[in-house]
Amino acid sequence: MASEDSFDGRRVALVTGAARGLGRAIAATLLERGHDVVLADLDGDALRETQAQLDPGLRRSDAVVADVSERGQFEAAFAVAQARGGRVHVLVNNAGKTVSRPFFEIEQQEWDELMAVNLRSVLFGCQIAGAHMRAAGGGRIVNMASLAGQRGGLVAGAHYAASKAGILVLTKIVAAELAPHGVTVNAVAPAAIDGPVMQALGEERIAQLEAAIPVGRVGRPEEVAALVAHLAGDDAGFVTGACFDVNGGVSMR
Ligand SMILES: NC(=O)c1ccc[n+]([C@@H]2O[C@H](COP(=O)([O-])OP(=O)(O)OC[C@H]3O[C@@H](n4cnc5c(N)ncnc54)[C@H](O)[C@@H]3O)[C@@H](O)[C@H]2O)c1
Repeated sequence: MASEDSFDGRRVALVTGAARGLGRAIAATLLERGHDVVLADLDGDALRETQAQLDPGLRRSDAVVADVSERGQFEAAFAVAQARGGRVHVLVNNAGKTVSRPFFEIEQQEWDELMAVNLRSVLFGCQIAGAHMRAAGGGRIVNMASLAGQRGGLVAGAHYAASKAGILVLTKIVAAELAPHGVTVNAVAPAAIDGPVMQALGEERIAQLEAAIPVGRVGRPEEVAALVAHLAGDDAGFVTGACFDVNGGVSMR
């Protein structure tokens, strides 16, 4: 029989790519909702600044500089989360790199790099956290996909979109594998969320994008974070292998 999750006491979450953007907002929301949070990111300076802002006492969080496309570094970050509570309840595979490139100009090195950062990291996260959560009898994994992985990118290249499409099917495979063990695995597919990537487009392009969004504005990182926090919660135990769109109605299915 499938085990039901019952998380007692301290809940520990690991969020990758947590130094800025969506990862930062997700870490903030999980902290607000009572989790201890381990923030992992490549960018050590931004990471430490974010940690100090979100958790000024530095008591409920750790900051780990890690390239999560490398298995050993992902394991090291996960070990920090385990050290915090013995058990890791939540993994948010959020780290990613967005690159805009015309299709015929994509070269092997950039393709390989994007696949490693965006997709291989999710494989490692699901393997490392999945094995741990299966043994513990429960857990929550949320993978950050994208509208680009469903229908091609609004701004990003084919390599980015293909990596995100890979996340969508990987999520279903891992969800099926872990469902009998009380571990849920879901994907969130945002589009046009405000943050450094969006701001880099410039005001004119952002205005064009907003005109094409039925809700009439770009999304807020907190709106993605609220959904992730729900999927990370106890009452989301019957939700697995699903993909949730957060795109202001740009794409409805
Ligand atoms: N912002 C959007 O509109 C949007 C839309 C769709 C999908 N997404 C996805 O959501 C996630 C977060 O997006 P964002 O806009 O906040 O991106 P962002 O570029 O603002 O932040 C990404 C963070 O990940 C970190 N990172 C990159 N490579 C890493 C690695 N190898 N190891 C560890 N950390 C690494 C970066 O240092 C950065 O802090 C990404 O996976 C992105 O593809 C975002």
